[in-house]
Amino acid sequence: MLTNAHETLNLGLEGVVAAATRISRVDGEKGELIIGGFALEALAPFHSFEEILFLLWNDRLPTDTELADLKQALRAARTIPKASLNLLEAAAEQDADTMDALRMGAASLGLNLKDDAQTQSVTAVAAFPTIVAAYYRLKKGLQPIAPHSELDHAANFLYMLEGREPEPERSRALETYLNTVVDHGLNASTFTARVIVSTRSDFISAVVGALGALKGPLHGGAPGPALDMVFAVGTADQAEPYIRSLLDRGERLMGFGHRVYKVRDPRAEVLSQAAARFYQRAGDQKLFHLAQEVEKTAVALLAEYKPNRRLQTNVEFYTALLLHGLGLPTELFTPTFAIGRVGGWTAHCFEQKKTDRLIRPKAVYVGQVRTETVKT
Ligand code: ACO
Repeated sequence: MLTNAHETLNLGLEGVVAAATRISRVDGEKGELIIGGFALEALAPFHSFEEILFLLWNDRLPTDTELADLKQALRAARTIPKASLNLLEAAAEQDADTMDALRMGAASLGLNLKDDAQTQSVTAVAAFPTIVAAYYRLKKGLQPIAPHSELDHAANFLYMLEGREPEPERSRALETYLNTVVDHGLNASTFTARVIVSTRSDFISAVVGALGALKGPLHGGAPGPALDMVFAVGTADQAEPYIRSLLDRGERLMGFGHRVYKVRDPRAEVLSQAAARFYQRAGDQKLFHLAQEVEKTAVALLAEYKPNRRLQTNVEFYTALLLHGLGLPTELFTPTFAIGRVGGWTAHCFEQKKTDRLIRPKAVYVGQVRTETVKT
């Protein structure tokens, strides 16, 4: 922090409280995450994504009828416009990054949409998986698969990627992941969405801006590199020399460290348990054990290299492992994060809309005050 006369400069806005929210609470010292009033561990592995979406939008769990209605509304909004598909085809021809394609596809959803918060929220949540799956297939030279008319949200995403109905344990593992990442306080992408809505702009604009923020490697772009690190280590005996060489070069270990958590991210715990269950039944056990070894070594070496920083495993490390176990390629990791997080973004948009207060911080001017006249 720098001070200039009576003004304080806080470049990362650490500790600044800019919203009151009922959506989630992050306790970085205790390692606790509350989602809509419930502890993450009690919610994510047991509920459907649609139930949690309803909870975040309405501040209570749905009745059976309300849940059925929301599922129906989402199913009805899954098909994306022809113009969006054309755009994705053009992006695939240019071999665009999947997050860029999702951002462009999401922006195109606004083309024929009413400027109505509820419609835009349902459309964004319902259509993100369709955009990602269609783009993934187009990039591989395959035809997109139309959304399933009966499957729930998580299962439908796997169906549109692969063209066959997924086994229940795969849908459950993906759903646990989506629920785990659905919201997380005033993180960078959520803040971006809230800033956009605070100007009374529309929700599609807000989620498009949020996607731009999520894409960066310091936010949602870390799981791919985290998995690359596990593969690069290769065998448990190489964990220490390999990670040491990264830290000696001053590199950051992806999947470790967090702005808020100073203990192990509780989402890492939920996802490591989900990954352990999944790998035991259907995965490469050797890879899972290697990842555990890499995690242990990384945490120990971070404590040695950065003794005062309290750097622990974050959500991205086991995201990578779980999504890889589900058969998702690295390029889909961050887009799949977005498919979960758009639930939280839209919930925050509703909250911000109600608050109706323009978010407008200040900058401290550090340039000169020139006294000479400007020549024309
Ligand atoms: N590996 C090595 N060193 C690290 C790491 C890491 N993963 N994270 C922080 N540090 C070090 C920094 O180099 C810095 O060291 P220094 O004081 O000697 O210069 C110190 O710890 C503090 O770092 P900051 O960048 O100030 O900490 P910040 O709170 O901004 O960092 C962040 C949070 C960006 C997540 C960081 O820990 C990081 O880059 N992690 C790796 C990327 C990652 O996993 N991102 C996903 C985060 S989870 C999410 O957004 C969903």
